[in-house]
Amino acid sequence: MTAGAPDWAAVLEQVPRAGFVPDAIWVDDPDGPGFAAVSRRADPGRWSAAVAADAPVITQINRGGPRSAADGDFPSSSCSQPSVVADMLNALDLRPGARVLEIGTGTGWNAALLARRVGPAGRVTTIEVDPGVADGARRALAAAGVAAEIVVGDGVHGWAESAPYDRIVATASVRELVPREWLAQLRPGGRLVAPWGTDHGNGALLTLDLGPRAPRRAGSPGTRRSCGSAANGAACSGGSPARTPSPARPPPRPTSAATTWT
Ligand SMILES: C[S@@+](CC[C@H](N)C(=O)[O-])C[C@H]1O[C@@H](n2cnc3c(N)ncnc32)[C@H](O)[C@@H]1O
Repeated sequence: MTAGAPDWAAVLEQVPRAGFVPDAIWVDDPDGPGFAAVSRRADPGRWSAAVAADAPVITQINRGGPRSAADGDFPSSSCSQPSVVADMLNALDLRPGARVLEIGTGTGWNAALLARRVGPAGRVTTIEVDPGVADGARRALAAAGVAAEIVVGDGVHGWAESAPYDRIVATASVRELVPREWLAQLRPGGRLVAPWGTDHGNGALLTLDLGPRAPRRAGSPGTRRSCGSAANGAACSGGSPARTPSPARPPPRPTSAATTWT
């Protein structure tokens, strides 16, 4: 931990993830190829053991739909592994009063940790692609008394409406190139932390510092990229300029009507 950085272990203790994990979770099915549902009500011991473990908790499979005959089950939302969350929060170097954007709200647990750290002078915006998952996070954050802006949309575009951000943290991973909108929405001198190269954070951790006098034109962000701590000991790779090819026609943007405060 760097000098002046928060004691995230204490924050993790103050905001237990049991308050954010839904009653229905999924675990590896020992008798089948996919996942088996575990209900907090029907099997509280197993549910509590899964939530207490230093492992991700799968909170949605198959995007909430049925198993695909071709692909089988796949996890589509989860509550991240606590030790990985702690690594990412340490890498973020978040201070009270900061404005932070989280990509991938999931259960809302990480948003609650961020909100606890930035305090009332700061602001947490979190974006989730799945409306049902976002609703669950909204309920959990409200129950915990946490104020955060929850946006439903594709986080690949960030959320320009609440930019600029002092920090951006992605809980869904970056493959190859960092989206240019994230860099355009980061304040000069700001920091971006993202898992690198896998879907749910088991790869290297990317820490990217935007230069203090970075130009504000998206596409030439003037970045300095460095490897922070690595979640699994892997080094991050690639030194190409951080940019993402623009599609011929941009996908529809979420509207501000999709933004709510809890
Ligand atoms: C590892 S989980 C998030 C864990 C979460 N931060 C927590 O504290 O529980 C990743 C989340 O990112 C969401 N996601 C995946 N792709 C996304 C995208 N393009 N934009 C926004 N959210 C996305 C998934 O639906 C999933 O809920």
